[in-house]
Amino acid sequence: MIKPKTFLCHALDLDATGAKEIVLEQNGARVSVFVVKNGEEVLGYVNACPHARLPLNWREDMFFDLSGRYLLCANHGAHFDIATGKCVRGPCVGQSLTPLSVRVDGGGDIIANP
Ligand code: FES
Repeated sequence: MIKPKTFLCHALDLDATGAKEIVLEQNGARVSVFVVKNGEEVLGYVNACPHARLPLNWREDMFFDLSGRYLLCANHGAHFDIATGKCVRGPCVGQSLTPLSVRVDGGGDIIANP
């Protein structure tokens, strides 16, 4: 659903919160995705919780639980493993976020579906 080589944001955009939401227009539809730091790597996911298909974040670019170890869905408290997107606690345990393939190029641009 996301076109190949779509620019999402710059790696510096992740510095404030460790994650960044991007809303894309694709074929007339709005698609929310987010990119997140996991150590030195950058991962991407569609911003739709498998529990009720709602966006995870309740504030701009806020995707982590208080420990910073899990992605948090603010709607009903699902916790997701950052590296795999798998729900490890909450109402959708065992289900996963939809991954989005991303790459950081030499200039720090984060590109979807490289
Ligand atoms: S919509 Fe995410 S936990 Fe319910």
